[in-house]
Amino acid sequence: MMRSFFVLALLATSTHAVPQTTPVPASGGSGGNSGQGGGVTGSGIPNVTDAQNPTCIPWYGIRDAIMGGLFQGRCGDNARAAVRLAFHDAGTFSLALQAAGLPNGAADGSILADPLEVQRDENNGLQNIVSLLAPLPAQFGVSPGDIVHLAGVLAVLACPGGPAIPAFVGRTAPTNIAPTGLLPNPEDPVDKLVARFADMGFSVRDLIALIGAHTTGKQRFVDPTQANKSFDTTVDIWDTRFYTETSNTTALPGTFKLDSDVAFSTDPTTSPDFSRFIGHQNIWTSDYVDAHEKMSLLGFSANDLTDCSEILPLSIDITTLEEATNGGKPPTDPVIDPVKLEAAVQQFRSIWLVPTPAT
Ligand code: HEM
Ligand SMILES: *[C@@H]1O[C@H](CO)[C@@H](O)[C@H](O)[C@H]1NC(C)=O
Ligand SMILES: *[C@@H]1O[C@H](CO)[C@@H](O)[C@H](O)[C@H]1NC(C)=O
Ligand SMILES: *[C@@H]1O[C@H](CO)[C@@H](O)[C@H](O)[C@H]1NC(C)=O
Repeated sequence: MMRSFFVLALLATSTHAVPQTTPVPASGGSGGNSGQGGGVTGSGIPNVTDAQNPTCIPWYGIRDAIMGGLFQGRCGDNARAAVRLAFHDAGTFSLALQAAGLPNGAADGSILADPLEVQRDENNGLQNIVSLLAPLPAQFGVSPGDIVHLAGVLAVLACPGGPAIPAFVGRTAPTNIAPTGLLPNPEDPVDKLVARFADMGFSVRDLIALIGAHTTGKQRFVDPTQANKSFDTTVDIWDTRFYTETSNTTALPGTFKLDSDVAFSTDPTTSPDFSRFIGHQNIWTSDYVDAHEKMSLLGFSANDLTDCSEILPLSIDITTLEEATNGGKPPTDPVIDPVKLEAAVQQFRSIWLVPTPAT
């Protein structure tokens, strides 16, 4: 049955052979098939013995070191930190600096390679994930940019509902520490944030799709008295609930809203895109994948890199994990059945799980 997955992957006509989502899990689900042909039994995790591109062969082991060793196959604190790290590495890219020929940021892993960069206030909270990832470039003989951005892609997949973003390898080593002052501050006004993302090469729609990564986020340093509060009520699921709950003036217990996220939900420049994603997982997924792929390539060209998406596990399709009572009709957010969710994680992330899961 593993075969059928690879045949499908080979026949995929898109520019990237990115795996699809999981079918109804073994425990049975209320939803329909997600469109994956005959479905997949077993883990749906590509095995190096079936590697397609020789360049990708070492990346199966690197995948397991990150997805297993660091994330234990789960959407825990290391995974959410790795998603943020990918942004804080690449988000220092500037078209203006590039045009001026000045030292620039990029998706180059400089945040791993230069010990000073992660010590900046704006990178507070990323020190632990950096210390975990920092040995990997030397251990596997690959660039820090490839490690940071594969970790970001795998971290999204570690979160149920998180899509498969094309995974490129072959980035060269960073040539400089990232310039300062380029990462966004949650107190910045919307026009400044929109302008900064435009200088990275992102449209308003890209920005609002990317900000949905806060679906798996917690805050510690904006208000230390509310440390560990999450940006939505389902912090371990990659869903559209972040958009729904941020837009609603009611503050839900246990959650924390960044001023910038609230401003995006109300400002006329950004609110149409913000509303567009509410309860529409498929629309958000499609826009998020495009924007995150672009983010993972800032300062590089895909033409110079190798697409190793063949190493990625299937995305866990949360629409097949809804509670029986939940119609799941947009624009409502799916209500996930915890038993079905755990069964899907056990099936589709099997080889990376440990008996005592990461928090
Ligand atoms: C306007 C742009 C953005 C602002 C102002 C912003 C701001 C923040 C702040 C203040 C935190 C909490 C840090 C702490 O106190 O621990 C945070 C967390 C986070 N951010 Fe953003 N962010 C932005 C964009 C993004 C983007 C584009 C991504 C990824 C695609 C992202 C992913 C995350 C994640 C995953 C966390 C949670 C980290 C964790 O729980 O360890 N953010 N962000
Ligand atoms: C990978 O495939 C080989 C050959 O089919 C098999 O022996 C091995 O157990 C597989 N590994 C995993 C982790 O499934
Ligand atoms: C926040 O979570 C971390 C572990 O993830 C824990 O060590 C810390 O004590 C928590 N802080 C608060 C205020 O709950
Ligand atoms: C806002 O959230 C509250 C509490 O969950 C809910 O009762 C209310 O219907 C929501 N409002 C809107 C406009 O969705």
